[in-house]
Amino acid sequence: MQEKVETLIAKLVEEVDYPKAAELFAKLSGGKRLRARLILTIAPEAPEAPLLGAIVELIHAASLLHDDVIDEAMLRRGVPSVNATHGSKVAIMLGDILYSKAFSSLTAFDPAISRAVAESVTRLSIGEMMDVEMAETFNTDREQYLKMLYLKTATLIEAAAFSAALLAGKDAQSYATYGKNLGLAFQIVDDILDITADEATLGKPSLNDFVEGKTTLPYIDLYDALDVPGRERLRNSHARPIDEAEKKWIRSRMDEHGVIERSYAFARSLCDEATAAVGNDLPLHAIIESVLKRSN
Ligand code: IPE
Ligand code: IPE
Ligand code: MG
Ligand code: MG
Repeated sequence: MQEKVETLIAKLVEEVDYPKAAELFAKLSGGKRLRARLILTIAPEAPEAPLLGAIVELIHAASLLHDDVIDEAMLRRGVPSVNATHGSKVAIMLGDILYSKAFSSLTAFDPAISRAVAESVTRLSIGEMMDVEMAETFNTDREQYLKMLYLKTATLIEAAAFSAALLAGKDAQSYATYGKNLGLAFQIVDDILDITADEATLGKPSLNDFVEGKTTLPYIDLYDALDVPGRERLRNSHARPIDEAEKKWIRSRMDEHGVIERSYAFARSLCDEATAAVGNDLPLHAIIESVLKRSN
């Protein structure tokens, strides 16, 4: 089934009929394919599931192409990003080609599905915009962070789960709840890994979020826990390149205040809500576990 998704992704990109696009796309290594796996797991018998998975992966790839331009990220999936090798103009247009190809392919689906997926991309883009805006200041507002996280990451996963449930004749609302909470937990784990994992494992620089100005959940919790001089020091390191000594200070304060454990506990509680929404659909429990335990 997973191979079928890969074949369809290649076919969709081929249909664009611009060899340069196919050539650039081939350089993006595949990624974890979480969203396609989710769709296939929810709707294993549905003949349209692999195509929906391929479309959602194209959308996801487009969002990453644009995200790396926005974040000025040089590394993606362990290889130099398209903006690094070919410049931002090419990365933006390749993203647009993939987005529009995905949208035209979505017209083959029930309108409830095409609408859910397309609308999720509007929300994803609003989330990316909020992320940029929030990184301009030292955000300590947890609610605002969670709202942005829902928009930029969880909404596409929610739409994927909702749509797959429609294909499978399952209760779409419950699966949407599952997808939303899984998506939130997934991004929180991603934000944790930015702090705890090394560059080789991540395929992108570590502690990069804070350098980019992003105060993710562990930073918000750390800020809450620190005394006044500690808070001032953390604020001073925000949104600028930081040296190894400062990285060490941040990590050891996080250790001291147990903020990583707290963020994991929060991600786990979201996963429990996700699991509760789908009852005994066991293969979906396994996806949750892999998201919580992932290391890259
Ligand atoms: C990366 O998503 C962007 C986030 C939402 C954190 P993934 O971690 O699913 O990226 P790939 O597809 O596996 O590279
Ligand atoms: C994730 O944003 C990208 C989208 C959800 C569109 P991030 O900027 O947080 O993700 P990484 O760390 O670059 O993968
Ligand atoms: Mg990024
Ligand atoms: Mg980003």
